[in-house]
Amino acid sequence: MCGIIGYLGSHEASPFLVEALKRLEYRGYDSAGIATVNDGALDRRRAVGKLVNLADLLVHTPLRGRSGIGHTRWATHGGPTETNAHPHQASRVAVVHNGIVENFRELRAELAAAGIGFETETDTETVALLTNHYLAQGDSPRAAVERVLPRLEGAFALLFLFAGEDDLLIAARKGSPLAIGHGDGENFVGSDAIALAPLTDRITYLEEGDMAVVTRQSIEIRDREGQLANREMKQVTLDTARVDKGGHKHFMAKEIMEQPQVVGNAIKHYLGEAGTNISLPGEGVDFTRVERMILVACGTAYYACLTAKYWLETLARIPVEVDIASEFRYREPPVTPGTVALFVSQSGETADTLAALRYCQGKADMILSVVNVAESSIARESDLALPILAGTEIGVASTKAFSCQLTVLLLLALKAAQDRATLAEPERERLTAALRGLPAVLNRALDSDGIAATLSQQLAEARDILFLGRGLMYPLALEGALKLKEISYIHAEAYASGELKHGPIALIDKRVPVVVMAPRDALFDKSISNMEEVMARGGKILLISDREGLHAAGDGVWKGIELPYVDPVLTPILYALPAQLLAYHTAIAKGTDVDQPRNLAKSVTVE
Ligand code: G6P
Repeated sequence: MCGIIGYLGSHEASPFLVEALKRLEYRGYDSAGIATVNDGALDRRRAVGKLVNLADLLVHTPLRGRSGIGHTRWATHGGPTETNAHPHQASRVAVVHNGIVENFRELRAELAAAGIGFETETDTETVALLTNHYLAQGDSPRAAVERVLPRLEGAFALLFLFAGEDDLLIAARKGSPLAIGHGDGENFVGSDAIALAPLTDRITYLEEGDMAVVTRQSIEIRDREGQLANREMKQVTLDTARVDKGGHKHFMAKEIMEQPQVVGNAIKHYLGEAGTNISLPGEGVDFTRVERMILVACGTAYYACLTAKYWLETLARIPVEVDIASEFRYREPPVTPGTVALFVSQSGETADTLAALRYCQGKADMILSVVNVAESSIARESDLALPILAGTEIGVASTKAFSCQLTVLLLLALKAAQDRATLAEPERERLTAALRGLPAVLNRALDSDGIAATLSQQLAEARDILFLGRGLMYPLALEGALKLKEISYIHAEAYASGELKHGPIALIDKRVPVVVMAPRDALFDKSISNMEEVMARGGKILLISDREGLHAAGDGVWKGIELPYVDPVLTPILYALPAQLLAYHTAIAKGTDVDQPRNLAKSVTVE
């Protein structure tokens, strides 16, 4: 969480810092701030709320200087106030931080005992105060930072800027990612390569425990032992035009509408222009030797994993366990030989998912990942990273990344089925061919935009909404409920349809809309029976199905959304679209901030 940026160059730093922060705002938007050094003097500007507030402040009270640091915050310790906003300054040093200093209470006590007072409620202020304390004892900036870092517990990416030092930035990484950008006579540091994309395409990623001393002409990196470290410089190619809504009102709308195209790109990437053979990068995976798979992720990516369990078990007969990364990482689960561990993450930086991956290193036969950001930590630390090729996703609520994750996971399951000969070849070829035709079907599904907009007027009035699904539709129901609650702030819950009668049915009354996702698959009749149980208790059903499904469900349903018929195996990718559209339009009807919903951030780099 939180995005950080540093600039050392020959131009005024402020515009660069603000532009880079714009690209990092997906990491949090509780407050933003920058600090610069100008003729040796350290100064800062900070503003609560979105970056635009900081930009406005800088118009009225500009900040000069050709070196600086910046921060966009997702609050952990202390509310989203200007006082708690980064950079935190203690006399001669300013600090920006992504992560959590877990032992900050002890450090505060120690500083208080030395007669040092505090202005903020943050953990980061202790880092600034401690550094300044050492500077006051006569340490050089570098020596002070070298003394501070071993004292910090938890996860951090830190940037330090010093009064009197126009040509110095110090960066340190433990747990949270940090990238150095190489320029000509200028250098940059950022939370990720996306922030640095317009500035340079030459990137060096810091590794765990690294500290970098950066000037305009030099970058010196030392590892956790203090030894000079030679970290590879990479040429990265990133989509830099990411602040474009393409004529849509919101990024989320644009990203929903892009799905036929990006899903098509992913399919072509793995299947080629013709044929039904799936190729994985590098040496691929030897599925004949896989005894079990563990799938781990957070949020929407976790629901993609739950869906993949159905595919991998049914099509490829591989036993699969799925877990939420924050639970998995501390349970010390046994990871036995024969296990492939698979991590799914849009950003590739989610702290819990990354920690779960590291737990499996050396235990699992192979670490696989399914990621959108190819340069991310999760991709780099995997044995094999499968890109989902969704393109940059900006809306905090994940949409196109989800459908692309599903697409790649289904391709993976079909590949496993092929290697293990668990699916008759004609059947595998039929499914692969059907998958090729999916983008056209997704295009037709986007026609439900109008009906979703109409229905959302009524959904927006509900206090609670339930989502139901069976089989492959159960994870989709979970995702539909998550989408709705994260952007419309309406309480939504999902259940496996068959589980309803074991408790949740008590919630049913005529004020609670129940969204049922029921394509005509092997479980359709059972889903319809569960739907009848809801209707018998006065529940209002919004049924999402195909034409025959809606017809078979009868007149009792409150509303219907019709989707094209596809092979049941493909339904999760198709049914994701109306779920997203319902959430999107309901949020519009409620007047919420669709792309940057309250309290959330897109990349969660703290526990
Ligand atoms: C956050 C986002 C979700 C996302 C989850 C996992 O909570 O708001 O949209 O699904 O993190 O993120 P990842 O980048 O690992 O897929």
